[in-house]
Amino acid sequence: MKTEGKPITMLTAYDYSMARLVDEAGIDMILVGDSLANTMLGYDSTLPVTMDEMVHHVKAVCRGAERAMVVADLPFMSYQVSKKEALRNSGRFLKESTASAVKLEGGLEIAETVRAIVNAGIPVVGHLGLTPQSVHQMGGYKVQGKDESAAKKLLADARCLEEAGAFCLVLECVPTPLAKLVTESLGIPTIGIGAGPHCDGQVLVIHDMLGLYPRQSPKFVKKYVNLHESIAASLKQYKEEVAARTFPGPEHCFSMSEEVLKKLY
Ligand code: KIV
Repeated sequence: MKTEGKPITMLTAYDYSMARLVDEAGIDMILVGDSLANTMLGYDSTLPVTMDEMVHHVKAVCRGAERAMVVADLPFMSYQVSKKEALRNSGRFLKESTASAVKLEGGLEIAETVRAIVNAGIPVVGHLGLTPQSVHQMGGYKVQGKDESAAKKLLADARCLEEAGAFCLVLECVPTPLAKLVTESLGIPTIGIGAGPHCDGQVLVIHDMLGLYPRQSPKFVKKYVNLHESIAASLKQYKEEVAARTFPGPEHCFSMSEEVLKKLY
């Protein structure tokens, strides 16, 4: 798609029903992101989510995705300790679900891990820029690569990941001109989130773009619908109708023969 100039679409999904919707919409790739720590599990950061929790969600997503490529996110500390652990955990995703690739965060420092995973036959998506697993090191969720040395490092990290065998690279919260330069410098596609329009594809967290997550959305999010509001209104209406005995109505109920009923009485 990169060589044909066709933009790649990616969205996150974390369960069967959402994966079905995303798949049916023709989205190219589904990322089971460790952002599920926030959106599905209610944590403040992505750090607490475990491999077992990720596998549970990846399996559900794979059951709903018939066509889209499913990418499973390696959670914090599932690949940093050793190459052996990184391989074992990457392998778990492919053995225990039908996911076909893994994603991990970082550049030069994890390049040899990327190479080992790729050498085991597992496709790898890289992730540079704002890498939420390093939030404490970065001092918060901020745009990355703004000064010369940070921009040069990001470009070098991108080249390094491509050389190590990554087939795709997520760029998160990177200035538009830098994302353009990285995209032009690589043979592999870049997928941007808060990285401007020149990336080879775009990804959003589905809870953000559907307005499901009641937090203040980052600047780069476009809310296509406000589902939080619609769902809240439906729940309120349900409560009112049950209280007023207007739900269930006759159309929601089952009947039985008068004769049988008479015998019961
Ligand atoms: O975990 C996630 O959802 C991600 C995307 C923001 C790219 O890594």
